[in-house]
Amino acid sequence: MSERSLTVIILAAGEGSRMRSALPKVLHPLAGRPLIGHVLAQALALAPERLAVVVGPHMDEVRALIAAEAPDARLFTQAERRGTAHAVLAARPVLEAAAAGEGELLVLYGDTPLVRVETLQRLRAALDDGAHVGVLGFEAPDPAGYGRLILAGPMQDGQATLLAIREARDASEEERAIRLCNSGVMAFRTAHLLSLLDAIGDENAAGEFYLTDAVALARAQGLDCTAIACAEEEVLGVNARTDLAAAEAIWQARARRQAMEAGVTLTAPETVFLSFDTELGTDVTIEPHVVFGPGVRVKAGACIRAFSHLEEAEVGEGATVGPYARLRPGSRVGPGARVGNFVEIKNGTLAEGAKVNHLTYIGDAEIGRDANIGAGTITCNYDGVFKHKTVIEEGAFIGSNSALVAPVTIGKGAYV
Ligand code: UD1
Ligand code: CA
Repeated sequence: MSERSLTVIILAAGEGSRMRSALPKVLHPLAGRPLIGHVLAQALALAPERLAVVVGPHMDEVRALIAAEAPDARLFTQAERRGTAHAVLAARPVLEAAAAGEGELLVLYGDTPLVRVETLQRLRAALDDGAHVGVLGFEAPDPAGYGRLILAGPMQDGQATLLAIREARDASEEERAIRLCNSGVMAFRTAHLLSLLDAIGDENAAGEFYLTDAVALARAQGLDCTAIACAEEEVLGVNARTDLAAAEAIWQARARRQAMEAGVTLTAPETVFLSFDTELGTDVTIEPHVVFGPGVRVKAGACIRAFSHLEEAEVGEGATVGPYARLRPGSRVGPGARVGNFVEIKNGTLAEGAKVNHLTYIGDAEIGRDANIGAGTITCNYDGVFKHKTVIEEGAFIGSNSALVAPVTIGKGAYV
């Protein structure tokens, strides 16, 4: 890969009004992580020298999230939404710094979360091959409002010389028939970038400064531009809730396939929902209809049985959870331990070999090694004001239907 220093700018100033939401669009979750979190992760995976995000005014929550996930990212506000070129220029200080050396700029969209890092590398490789501008394109069965890529000739090995990008609103009937579309993801050599961007005008149907005009302007200066093809599903943009659901389906299908390739059995993969950070060890079995919220780690050989729901939980080697179990934040199920049907655990630890098999609530509790908790046991952890802890030591036996009013300790080997 190139020696050029990389700058990434993420555009996220759009309001996302079609989401009809009080929440800014880029904060809507995909696989348990905000859309822009996915895009930041892609950018960070490329280890850029500079990372900038352009947001709209009044986007304090978005700013806070970016500060938390990418503390080195610089934030710029685009006060008025005047087009994609105008948005990129909102980060002018970063562009100037990037242009000072032999660099490259990658433009990503905050609402386009599924681009694979390998695809971004392929786009960057087009610059290595001599292009000054690289554009990621895709074949759309219904190109509707997308910008159309006008090529010099047919694609070869997924790439072609690009002459111009025409926005749908400004396209002739003939151009509108083109099905190869602009994803919006673009790469630029920084050498001529500022002069190109400053030359872009707003004389078009939308009255906006189009970043896409950089292509024809570059060509006019004798600079090469290349289109790189990728799958439509990688560049799906989220504009409405239906797009969000479509993106979720694509993300889940990918994650399930990756899990199976890594040695996890999914009996009915299409019914299992994973989170962006779910960790599943080898020979883990996931039965149908299991939902993983964020922060779950399942160690080798464990089995999560049907209809279980887990979040911020750890399941040890060879343990069994479910069917119909709920592991809430702070659940730690030790190696070989068993959590059976209609059991809820919250902030509770089961040591190795402990059994909680039926109809039980374990909250703010520590259960010792090989202890056996009978059906219908409840740790009464909350007195209406404060939470208290229950400790059940190694090998203790709790008989059915016990209500253990915390704080309470059941000693080693004791029988209730
Ligand atoms: C843009 C492209 C189009 C491409 C399509 C892919 C231009 C002129 N057109 O069109 O060729 O097919 O994306 O989805 O670039 N944004 C800002 N500030 C602005 C305008 C946009 O931050 O002033 C951000 C938006 O938040 C969004 C992205 O840029 O993340 C794209 O903007 P959008 O208005 O959706 O562009 P399109 O008209 O769809
Ligand atoms: Ca769009």
